[in-house]
Amino acid sequence: MALTVRPVADLDELRRALGSIGHYFGGWPDEEAAERFGRLLPLERMHAAFDGETIVGGAGAFPFTMTVPGGEVGCAGVTVVGVLPTHRRRGVLSSMMREQLDDVRRRGEPIAALWASEEPIYGRFGYGLASLAGEAKLARPYAALRDRGPARGAVRLLTAEEARERLPAVYERVRAATPGMYVRSAQWWELRQTSDPPDSRGGAGEKNYALLELDGRDAGYALYRLRMSWEAGSSAGSVEVIEAMADSPEATLELWRYLLGLDWTATFNLYRLPIDHELWHLLEYPRRMQFRVGDGLWLRLVDVEAALAGRTYTGDGSVVLEVADAFVEENSGTYTVTANGIETGGEPELRLDVQALASVYLGGFTFAELARGLRVEELREGALARADALFATAIRPWCPEIF
Ligand SMILES: CC(C)(COP(=O)(O)OP(=O)(O)OC[C@H]1O[C@@H](n2cnc3c(N)ncnc32)[C@H](O)[C@@H]1OP(=O)(O)O)[C@@H](O)C(=O)NCCC(=O)NCCS
Repeated sequence: MALTVRPVADLDELRRALGSIGHYFGGWPDEEAAERFGRLLPLERMHAAFDGETIVGGAGAFPFTMTVPGGEVGCAGVTVVGVLPTHRRRGVLSSMMREQLDDVRRRGEPIAALWASEEPIYGRFGYGLASLAGEAKLARPYAALRDRGPARGAVRLLTAEEARERLPAVYERVRAATPGMYVRSAQWWELRQTSDPPDSRGGAGEKNYALLELDGRDAGYALYRLRMSWEAGSSAGSVEVIEAMADSPEATLELWRYLLGLDWTATFNLYRLPIDHELWHLLEYPRRMQFRVGDGLWLRLVDVEAALAGRTYTGDGSVVLEVADAFVEENSGTYTVTANGIETGGEPELRLDVQALASVYLGGFTFAELARGLRVEELREGALARADALFATAIRPWCPEIF
């Protein structure tokens, strides 16, 4: 097979490239859907694999700015990756990943991130597990908060248009303080958070936009749907919380007071939660959340030196990392990390591969945890503890949205 990989040249090629992942979701996008997608993903950021004239694979990368500990860096938000079943396991994905990573490096984006459909796919391309994500299913009789009130502030239901005006500022405050979150453009808010086509509702009702005003300002919001259903005359329905953001502990309490106070439901289903969620401490019955943890973001340090330099470190120690990168050889080498900056070179003290480094980069895991999982080797005694002191963060990384 003479396979070529290149960015798509026009909307029709974009539509056909999206068809590779579309195949698995049960349908190829029509022209309108491709046009909508193209407003978020520039054509030159969508790679397609061609077998002759036929497009048999696609891989995109949103141009994100992602929060990292103490700062933010350019990030390729890898998305819509698919290879048609007619061409699977012939190296099509590998060729697209090569082209895409080269492109990301050329653009100077130090990291790339994605949500993986299956865990074994992306490690070979240097992606490591960087954040965890939780889901909860809370039965209404156990949804009591420890704080019985009275409620403070006021919640208003907004139209989609009002939501586009009021919610982004709240999101942006949370985003700036939370590693793993990325900047959302106005287009992103319009096409993703505040669009609500009926075929995206999964049988639930329309999307609601609730804004919490507290102490005279916008302090939190929730996007949620109600799923109505009855059994023996009582509600067996659920509240489906798509996203809940609050910019202070008090706002978090009041937002959840509103959501968990919604009447006429049996269950609250919560998705894509940070694993250090405040609800562990706010609920009377936290066990009843049935909190389930899974993998969240997979992260690729595309340019290790630039990525390391893009975040901050704590204390006055230093550590020398020997990093191996089999897919992007230029990254292999030693890096001295101190709170004052990054230098290449030094006598290695910890040995790890680029996937393992991605696991500690946002603060999702510690070097000590990786060592217990045989993912990092301590070459000098005390180096693990020094590295953990440098990389320490106060908050776990969180990505609230699958992109
Ligand atoms: C996942 C997918 C993109 C892989 O494409 P592909 O062209 O078959 O992958 P390649 O031939 O380049 O495979 C490269 C290597 O990854 C392995 N691999 C690929 N997909 C894998 C999977 N789902 N699970 C485990 N290993 C996988 C291959 O076995 C191969 O290993 P090898 O080099 O040791 O032989 C394709 O199967 C697909 O489109 N799946 C459905 C949609 C999907 O899951 N997309 C990903 C969205 S995040």
